[in-house]
Amino acid sequence: MSSSAFLLRRLPRYSHTAALSSQRHPLLASVRVSQARTRALIRPSSALYMYSTGADQTEKPYYITTPIFYVNAVPHIGHLHSAVLSDTFKRFQELKGRKAILSTGTDEHGLKIQQAAELLGMKEIDLCNDVSQRFRDLFDAANISYTTFIRTTEPRHAEAVKEIWDQLWARGYIYKGKHEGWYSVSDEAFYPSTHVQEKLNEKTGEKYHIAVETGKMVEWTTEENYKFKLSAFTDKLNEWLEQNPNAILPLSRHQEVQSWLKTPLADLSISRPRSRLTWGIPIPGDDSHVMYVWMDALTNYLTVTGYPWKNMSEAQRAVCGWPADAQVVGKDILRFHAVYWPAFLMAAELDVPKRIVAHAHWTQSKMKMSKSVGNVVDPFTAMQEFGTDTIRFYLMNDGGLADDADYSSALVAERYRKLLGGQLGNLLSRSASAALNPSSMVPTQPSQDTIDPNFQALHSKLEQLPAIYDEAMSNYATTQATHAIFDMLAEANAVFSRVEPWNLVKDPASKDRLDAVLWYSLESVRMAALLLQPIMPTKAPAILDELSIRKDERSWEYAHLGRGWKTDTESRRVVVSAPMFPARKTKK
Ligand code: MSP
Repeated sequence: MSSSAFLLRRLPRYSHTAALSSQRHPLLASVRVSQARTRALIRPSSALYMYSTGADQTEKPYYITTPIFYVNAVPHIGHLHSAVLSDTFKRFQELKGRKAILSTGTDEHGLKIQQAAELLGMKEIDLCNDVSQRFRDLFDAANISYTTFIRTTEPRHAEAVKEIWDQLWARGYIYKGKHEGWYSVSDEAFYPSTHVQEKLNEKTGEKYHIAVETGKMVEWTTEENYKFKLSAFTDKLNEWLEQNPNAILPLSRHQEVQSWLKTPLADLSISRPRSRLTWGIPIPGDDSHVMYVWMDALTNYLTVTGYPWKNMSEAQRAVCGWPADAQVVGKDILRFHAVYWPAFLMAAELDVPKRIVAHAHWTQSKMKMSKSVGNVVDPFTAMQEFGTDTIRFYLMNDGGLADDADYSSALVAERYRKLLGGQLGNLLSRSASAALNPSSMVPTQPSQDTIDPNFQALHSKLEQLPAIYDEAMSNYATTQATHAIFDMLAEANAVFSRVEPWNLVKDPASKDRLDAVLWYSLESVRMAALLLQPIMPTKAPAILDELSIRKDERSWEYAHLGRGWKTDTESRRVVVSAPMFPARKTKK
């Protein structure tokens, strides 16, 4: 049975609660979609409620973007990774006192979507509405503090796309020409013959072709299209990358893009005849053609800032966000973001993004996790099983920037047990325990004149931690940041065991030492929780609450040894009611 026949039989109408098998079709998954569809698309920055930043409202906000997600399949953990990474950096900027905006959304046009809707016997817009809402639900469930959720089917986006087309047209960068090439529907991209490989289907003996870069099937296509003079930008793109050696992170990706640019670029087809593609934005002034989906999609980053900025004052324009400070993308969509996108912007005489951060992929049993392979991890189920912040932590602690990482539920459980529970939670409950700390108070900081040798190593780690963390986070290396935090916590737990406070508590003469070990432990927990706020936006503040750290003392200025509890003694109370990371019941 063909997959479409299968779908139509099992799924006469796509429904919000359809419990479906993701093995058969990417759209099939057992996720409930909430009915709440009326929320405003723009919401205030979380800076307003998360940290008291005192950010200057005339300063350009830090603008960070996630890619916008295709609506031909429901979200998987890889999608969530792009979003959590972006959200973590946005929150990191807020921690440092900068106003930040984060945009995310859904990519709703193109042949992929048209075909998926056809397969399901649905109207395209109904499919878009449903799946877009699933992404929104996911990002809400995962505490992604997006400030804008953009959908490419919105009228404000069509206006921005029309404007960019007009700008390129007016400057002579668009012409009409015959286009022949290998087209991949799955990648929504044409590939030159040199990037295509012939394959043999051993069962049927039929030959077919794939794109070398993505392994996706391509077919030879000849059509009359509008083309963009991408060839005019090879030198400019090279110059940009040479002058901005940090434009693309990690460095290996920067070099990869430079290697693509060693060969002059060919012009790019930026429209498809309506006879082939109906679901898209029409070409201004020519209804017989529809905008190439990547040109449409990439423009979303401008739409979010209010482009074409027509009714904006100079002052409003200055704080609209553009150019983006960081654009987070998966490595599979690097060419679109690091070649086509800056070329479009250069052609329209707009600033290019300051940085593109390309992350690696999650694999399952070492195979790329993808909807077409059917080996995806459902992020809703994962968060339900382990908790939102545990999944966020796992993604940021174990997900690769340069190298792929293999997703493993066993490892999520281990990180929870050993790191979150065993290090962070344990240190907190030990140092707040009634047996060792009957008054539940944070002792005063021990004298810094002579540091007890027992605490020397921990003291140094606490002193160095902010700089290591800052460096790692400024380079988008969350793994290094969490490793530094947990390395410090491991030392703090080791000191605790070595100093044996359970013996010190029995001897009034050891009061200073007992106070010192309790202070260092609680200070370690405070520093860890403060720095984990961008990654664990629920659990970290909850720990700071238990430590009675005031809301206005949770920003970067306080992320230094000895900067906590500067207020009166009564407010230095530690209130731990239940373990923050209780032992999980293991499934039989
Ligand atoms: N719609 C385009 C992006 C347009 S941006 C102007 C697209 N969408 S996608 O839904 O296929 O992918 C969105 C993001 O999810 C990309 O950053 C992609 O790399 C990421 N991931 C998809 N699978 C992934 C993994 N297995 N692991 C990590 N991230 C992956 O591409």
